[in-house]
Amino acid sequence: MKIGAYQGNPEFGLVEKNVRQAVTELEGADADLVVMPELFNTGYQFVSKEEAFGLAEEMPYGDTCRSMMEIARSKKMHLVFGMAERDGARLFNSAAVVGPEGFIGRYRKSHLFYEEKYFFDPGDTGFMVFDIGIARLGVMICFDWWFPEAARSLALSGADIICHPANLVLYGCHKAMITRSLENGVFSITANRTGSEARGGKEPLVFTGESQIVDNRGSLLASMNRDGAGIVVVDIDVKRARDKSITTLNDRFKDRRPDLYGEITKSNLPA
Ligand code: ACM
Repeated sequence: MKIGAYQGNPEFGLVEKNVRQAVTELEGADADLVVMPELFNTGYQFVSKEEAFGLAEEMPYGDTCRSMMEIARSKKMHLVFGMAERDGARLFNSAAVVGPEGFIGRYRKSHLFYEEKYFFDPGDTGFMVFDIGIARLGVMICFDWWFPEAARSLALSGADIICHPANLVLYGCHKAMITRSLENGVFSITANRTGSEARGGKEPLVFTGESQIVDNRGSLLASMNRDGAGIVVVDIDVKRARDKSITTLNDRFKDRRPDLYGEITKSNLPA
């Protein structure tokens, strides 16, 4: 299975241009699955809820989803991409999963980062795994990485590949995703963006690029550079993610001790 990450530098608010650029790259890609960054069509730094709402689209009936479904159909590939989703009066930082047959599903970001809390509703889907036949795709978005429960939940729900659209601005994610892959025995694709935004007098946000693909043992299979643009693709044996053994006597899942982990599902604050 050929899996890829798209990295680019969208221009804020120029949805048509950003989508066209992505579609042009995808036309030249040879992959079964490509993951795109978070909010890849709009850019990231909204200055008001009204602005975010104006740039958001319905899923799957908005223009962005339609364009992505069309290229997925013509290239016979699956795509996971981040975009602002409008659902009635609610607004989510979402990711869509589409394939040659059309729309497959959505994930709505669970852990909102920083000023996202002003614009978006907290995700209400839970951590979703989509069976696309050749693989089971788990989806989480950017800052979800900071909470290891996200990747663990996806792995326990059967994900082979964690698809991770991102607009990273903090330190630490690239290394953390290597660990998330290692401890869960899953492949991961972190598709990050490049460039910077400083809108409406806000503090600049510098996006860290270095999109990466990690295998089920935590080895880095591909890594783009900080300012690179385009699509990186690697060939994997996705079935390896179904083997959770560590040694002949140890297994990532069978050796877990949920009887000792009760605190994880309790309140958010230490006693
Ligand atoms: C982030 O969640 N976009 C940092």
